[in-house]
Amino acid sequence: MSEINKIGVIGAGNMGSGIVQKIAQEGIDVVMVDIKDEFVERGMSTIKGLLAEGVKRKIFSEKQVEETLGRIHGSSDMTAVADCDLVIEAVFEDKQVKSDLFKNLDNICESKTILATNTSSFYVREFALETKRPDRFIGLHYFFHPAKNRLLEVIPWEETSADTIEKSLLAAKLHGKTSILVKDAPGFAVNRFFVPFLNEATRMLEEKMADIPTIEAAAKQAFRIGMGPFQLMNVTGIPIAVHAATTLGNELGPFYAPAQTLIDQNETGNNWDLSGDVDESKLQPVMDRFNGVCLGVAAALVDEEVASIEDTDRGAKIGLRWAMGPFELMNRLGIDKTYEVVSAISERYPDFDMPQILKNQKATGKPFKFNFVDLALKDDLAFITINRPEAMNALNETIVSQLDEKFSEAENNPAVKAIVLQGAGKAFVAGADIRYFVKNIKADKIDDIVDFTRKGHELFLRIENSSKKTIALLDGLSLGGGSELALACQAIVATPAGSMAFPETGIGIFPGLGGMLRMTRHVGPELAKYYTFTGMPISAADAKSLGIVTQLVQPSEVPAALRELAERDVDKYAERAVPEKFNDMVKMGRSENIALLLDGKPPEEVPTDFAAKSVKIVGFKAPVALKVAAEIIDAQIDLPMAEAVEVELGRLSEIFATADAYEGLSTAGRKRPEFKGA
Ligand SMILES: NC(=O)c1ccc[n+]([C@@H]2O[C@H](COP(=O)([O-])OP(=O)(O)OC[C@H]3O[C@@H](n4cnc5c(N)ncnc54)[C@H](O)[C@@H]3O)[C@@H](O)[C@H]2O)c1
Repeated sequence: MSEINKIGVIGAGNMGSGIVQKIAQEGIDVVMVDIKDEFVERGMSTIKGLLAEGVKRKIFSEKQVEETLGRIHGSSDMTAVADCDLVIEAVFEDKQVKSDLFKNLDNICESKTILATNTSSFYVREFALETKRPDRFIGLHYFFHPAKNRLLEVIPWEETSADTIEKSLLAAKLHGKTSILVKDAPGFAVNRFFVPFLNEATRMLEEKMADIPTIEAAAKQAFRIGMGPFQLMNVTGIPIAVHAATTLGNELGPFYAPAQTLIDQNETGNNWDLSGDVDESKLQPVMDRFNGVCLGVAAALVDEEVASIEDTDRGAKIGLRWAMGPFELMNRLGIDKTYEVVSAISERYPDFDMPQILKNQKATGKPFKFNFVDLALKDDLAFITINRPEAMNALNETIVSQLDEKFSEAENNPAVKAIVLQGAGKAFVAGADIRYFVKNIKADKIDDIVDFTRKGHELFLRIENSSKKTIALLDGLSLGGGSELALACQAIVATPAGSMAFPETGIGIFPGLGGMLRMTRHVGPELAKYYTFTGMPISAADAKSLGIVTQLVQPSEVPAALRELAERDVDKYAERAVPEKFNDMVKMGRSENIALLLDGKPPEEVPTDFAAKSVKIVGFKAPVALKVAAEIIDAQIDLPMAEAVEVELGRLSEIFATADAYEGLSTAGRKRPEFKGA
């Protein structure tokens, strides 16, 4: 069974202290080791400073900070990491220092310990081979700042065992990282195109193609980023850029080697001067050049199977905060234009060949297709992962259709006994893609929304009624459509991080994928109404006590819980008593009190403060959505599920046609909507 209870980090510098902070923040015990006590203390004070800043910005409470610090054990004695499940090295980028360290760790650590390197420029295999546990050795490449940037490149080398990869991915998930799986290759995935992006900027300057402000502006426009390459280098250090380009150049050829201007600037010890005016006439050629380099290199790394197109895009979006990944950018530019700008690069640099994947795609004349839903078999369990963590796995047409496809594949496989649905990254599934709704309302295509919702319902019914056991793994936040997907499964395994909520009435609509129907069957119409009206979150513990969650376990116990559930029958809607704790919520959901809430009046049957708070919360919701939601819940109570679904679907056009739905959906996440009650 996968167990990650204690992690060691070697090196308390910029990266090490940030990695330690993140691990401790996410609830895992961590040991931080450096050569001297004063370095450990420096690392601790960096962490304390950042946490204190977090308290000021109301990201953490004092109590959370205290708990986080309580999980960190600092030491200058390497043996303190002996019993860790995973030890991550973040010491100087020096081959000898790292090699000596790993030999030492190999002797000190128990046999279960996985050793990981956070190197940026060496091969993972070089250090793996220094140890007697090459199968329990992996690269874990973090991005600055590691407590804030969610991306983690997980880099197995040829001999890393499947178990080590699995445990490393679990460790990543447990400390809130979104992993991409990358081959042990120079620059891994992200730096492979990010470093040439910086380097090409300096080449364009060297050629006097444009000045710094123009190149900055073109980069920002091409990738929709906040800082251009020169400003980024000023912030992260010009020496790092030179070092990274030199290593890539040595491994991959002159195209990747640092421009003379970059080397010269480094020698001056000064930052780049960003001042000056933008020459608009030069923006397009500079953007073409950036696109040619970045998209060309991204295609080359996929050709070499360093990473998938989806992971390459995730790397750019999560790690570099680009608005779109390279392959999404290629689709936006079109394959012909992409081919043209990359051709210009391959003509300019003789050692840069046109990647095969671009030749093939050009021949089809079509955009790239992305796979956002993965299916993997493990013994007789099929794992379906919604893998769009950059959008918290939100449901849209593509996701639902790929989910349908993967579900059919798993269902039709006679070797599969149970199908587990999960989300990649920190969230399970955060609702549906709101932009899709807005776009269709604007285009007067509410029928398309109804068709999409009907397809979703059909899939959810298949999930609920499948002859295979269907299990949702609710190990993170879920909202709206995501909570409804979990509810459609025959069983739910949750970890304490799991939660559900129905925020729809706050954005002018009602939960449209059976959430109200299934909540009614679990806990009765009163609680279904209460949660639909208030949008209050249901914690995993509450969902367990209500019988909605079948098993609540710690992350390390998930595999055993899934196995156990795969073997037994679950009567998901079995009769049950609602625990006393929920009495006031049940009362609040009674028809007479719902009527009062709709009128903005506090029900007298419940404690005054609870009534007042509920009136206030419900006051921010869309009145029509509330009314229709309550009517749907009442109308479907005794119907079989398939007919209940029709009742819900029957009210969909009506709600999406309201002014409040447009107001709620189009302002979502930006400002509080102003509902008119129409
Ligand atoms: N800075 C980045 O943006 C970035 C990003 C990804 C990866 N990395 C990699 O992370 C690693 C660390 O980088 P950094 O920026 O944190 O460096 P840093 O210089 O800030 O910190 C390194 C720390 O390691 C300690 N150290 C050195 N040798 C040690 C040993 N034998 N045992 C214990 N501690 C030792 C040092 O005392 C120092 O505190 C490097 O390999 C770097 O390439 C850096």
